[in-house]
Amino acid sequence: MLQNLDRTKSTAIEELNSVSDLKALEDWRVRHLGKKSALTTILRGLAKLPLDERKAVGARANETRALLESLQGEKKEALRQRAYLDLEGRLTVEKLDVTLPGRPVSLGRHHPTTQMLREICGIFAALGFQVVEGPDVEWDYYNFEALNIPADHPARDMWATFWVDYETEDGRHPMLLRTHTSPMQIRVMEKTRPPVRVVVPGMCYRYEATDATHESMFYQIEGLAVDETITLADLKGTLFAFAKRLFGEERRVRFRCDYFPFVEPGVEMAIDCFACGGAGCRLCSGTGWIEILGAGMVHPDVLRRVDYDPDVYTGFAFGIGVERMAMLRYGIEDIRLFYSNDLRFLRQF
Ligand code: DAH
Repeated sequence: MLQNLDRTKSTAIEELNSVSDLKALEDWRVRHLGKKSALTTILRGLAKLPLDERKAVGARANETRALLESLQGEKKEALRQRAYLDLEGRLTVEKLDVTLPGRPVSLGRHHPTTQMLREICGIFAALGFQVVEGPDVEWDYYNFEALNIPADHPARDMWATFWVDYETEDGRHPMLLRTHTSPMQIRVMEKTRPPVRVVVPGMCYRYEATDATHESMFYQIEGLAVDETITLADLKGTLFAFAKRLFGEERRVRFRCDYFPFVEPGVEMAIDCFACGGAGCRLCSGTGWIEILGAGMVHPDVLRRVDYDPDVYTGFAFGIGVERMAMLRYGIEDIRLFYSNDLRFLRQF
């Protein structure tokens, strides 16, 4: 019996060594000190033993129990201590320094075209123009017909067009991606009576091969002013003010005849080259002048089409290429850079 007790003790101690957490320690307690443990069984059976044996075994069994209980206590304390140390370790390693500065937020910026659109619209807004927008997908009537560009007229060759079909219950109707913002002249005049003073920013589309100066998508800003006494002098004054604000107070402007079916007379406006001051350089192709926009006096037939009496009302119109303005302003040499989404390019603005 005594031998049995000693074996129980040494097994328990041995097993205790490999206990490594509180859960295992509890299992160990149940196994070696619990109601069904060998030790408890021996203690329960003491009464049946002869007296002298009972004394010896009883004393050894109690001793063993006390020892195991105290070992269990020590182990428990050790395990607790270790868990605590682990926490300490974690706190050191995972320390959070709340005084460190935050990570910098990287700022985005507006696309150079957007910046230019806003700047130009801002200039005209300051001159009393209203900013309006229109549809990118247009009817032939607005893009061409109403602007004196009938079907089969050679003037259509000025605008290579993307055609699309608009399908309804009663069939297919040809539409197009607007080739310029001029159709909004008609839409605005159909809806309002003079005086009219609007600028229309918008994307335009042309079916052409792209190169350094041509893209199939680009922005224009259309301008239109109609009232009773508007003359070519108003057109010149307005656009001169615009050119000075965008390209510098010292700018000079030049107007020359040009042809656009919806204006008469039509003009092309140039500014003196701000890179060379007019002496001639690469930017102005040696001419000293840089063409910046097309304009003219609204054609009487266009006015008639929207029920404006050309004997009472006159007006001027102009169309500005927005990317072209940005290219001149920033010395950008290839228009394809605008929409190729190269961050190295975009980050410069
Ligand atoms: N719509 C013309 C184009 O895209 C530009 C233009 C020229 C607009 C003369 C006008 C204008 O309003 O008067 O080529």
